[in-house]
Formats: sequence, structure tokens, C-alpha cells
Amino acid sequence: MTLQVRAAAKINLFLDILGRLDDGYHSLQMLMQSVSLYDTVSLHTTCSGDISLTCSHASLPTNNTNLAHRAAALFFSYANLQNPGLAIHVEKRIPLAAGLAGGSADAAAVLAGLNRLYDAPLTGAQLDEVALCIGSDVPFCLHGGTQLAQNRGEVLSPLPALQNCFVLLAKPEQSVSTQEAFAAFDRKDYIYRPHGVRLLDAAARGDFAKICSFAANVLEQVVEVPQRVEIKAIMREHGASLAQMSGSGPTIFGLFLTQEEALRCQTALQALPVETYLCTPVASAIRFD
Ligand code: C5P
Repeated sequence: MTLQVRAAAKINLFLDILGRLDDGYHSLQMLMQSVSLYDTVSLHTTCSGDISLTCSHASLPTNNTNLAHRAAALFFSYANLQNPGLAIHVEKRIPLAAGLAGGSADAAAVLAGLNRLYDAPLTGAQLDEVALCIGSDVPFCLHGGTQLAQNRGEVLSPLPALQNCFVLLAKPEQSVSTQEAFAAFDRKDYIYRPHGVRLLDAAARGDFAKICSFAANVLEQVVEVPQRVEIKAIMREHGASLAQMSGSGPTIFGLFLTQEEALRCQTALQALPVETYLCTPVASAIRFD
């Protein structure tokens, strides 16, 4: 049996850190949005008795430190299934360590795909539980769309879909460790607090202009991205309604109301050492091909 699953990247329209949880993680308030930049995860059942992983991106580990590999192992153990053999191939398009949840998306695709291949041994709630064991963004990556994500990131509340727009992603060369970003936040004495309540009010009504006014990411105050100011300035000059860092960075995204503006901005960004991707918001993160 073979199944192909598309796994969508996410951006954070809002990210605030509200405190520390007992387990050392941080309590978050995030507005997450899936976008149409996908990895493709292929699942192929074999008779090898183990899990093998190949990836189009040479620098990604293919052993059990890869989140997709961990997801498969955890799925079989939670579902109490003997693994007859599984070959996973990940075709990467989402850049690595970029604040776009690429690894989490692949793990979510493995969980959703295996649950389909094996006729749903796990309930939705069980899949969410396994997802959280793999990483804080994995539960969102199972569901996707436009969601308020709280606590570690696993308490999800669906919100009205973001208005149709164009999302331009600009990924500088550096990679950021999420763990280091949170540690840098903890060391900071003063953080400017964004308007979470107003943002949520705007998101609940799907008010695009107000979402853009109250959007914020507190990790921008602690993660150094040398080209951040320049990328944002270019995005704004080209008509972006919002230009902001996603997650722990370094990717900066711009929201544009017209494709022409987004394309012109993409051309202008070629002057900088950044990779760019033009995509749109999507209503779900996982798609079976
Ligand atoms: O859950 P995940 O492994 O993706 O998180 C990566 C790192 O980000 C954690 O080790 C932790 O340092 C930090 N983190 C956090 N609080 C969260 C989510 C992530 O402190 N809610």
C-alpha cells in the first residue's frame, strides 16, 4: 500500500508568550495560519519489519531523530500495531529551521497518513495526544487552517478563515533554534506586550485590516535576524498589509491583497540573500493525494 500526503507550512500571525508552564515549556497565545507551501510525504508499506526514511534534502537526518520517523514509531506503539515495515519518503519544499513548522508538518502527515492506511486505529483525540509527544506545533499541523493555539500550542480553537490574500515568505540564510529563541526570551528583562485580546476580537470577526494592525510576534524582540528590517521595509514599500517574522524565525512573511504587488515584491527581494516563496492561506494542513 502506498499513500501520498501533502503537509502544509504555517505562519504565525500572532505569537505572545504569557508565562512558564510547570513542565518548563512556555504558555503561548498564537494565531496560526496554514499556507500553500507543501512537503510531500510518501508512505509505502513493506515487509522489512522496520521504519526507513529517505529525504530529498541531504542535510536532514533520516534516523529516529527525524520527526517523521518518530511519528511513525509512536503511531505503531500507540495503536498497538506490529509494524510490518514502512518506507517513508519526504520531498522537502518547506525550508528547514525556518519558523514554518516544516518538520512538524511532516510528522503530522505521517500520523494522519498511517491512521488512514491502517483504517483509523486511533481516534482524533488520540492522534492529537501522539502529535503533542512529537512537538508543540504538530497538533496544529494535523488540523491547520486558521486557529488560535494556546498553552504549549495544542489547545486549538478554529477561527474564521483568513481573507484571500497572497503570502510572500522570505527566508534568510541563517537557521534559528526554537529552544534558543525561547531561552533568549527568558533572559530578556523587558518585553513590549502586544494586544492579544484585540487581535482575537479581530480574528473572531475575520477582520483582515484589524488582524494586520494587532498582529505581533514577541520573538522578534529577542531573535536577531540581520536582514529583518530591510526585508520588512521592502515588503511595506511594495504594499504589504503586514510584514512580520514567523515563529522563532528567521522567515519573514508579507501579506498582500494583490498578486501583482506580491510578485513585484518577490522580484525586489532578489537583491537580498533570501529564498522567497509565494503562497496563499489554506483551510487545512493535511491533504491526501
Ligand atoms: O515542542 P518542540 O520540541 O517543538 O519545542 C522546541 C523547543 O521550543 C522546546 O524545547 C522549548 O525550548 C521551546 N518551547 C517552549 N514552549 C512551547 C513550545 C516550545 O518553551 N510552548
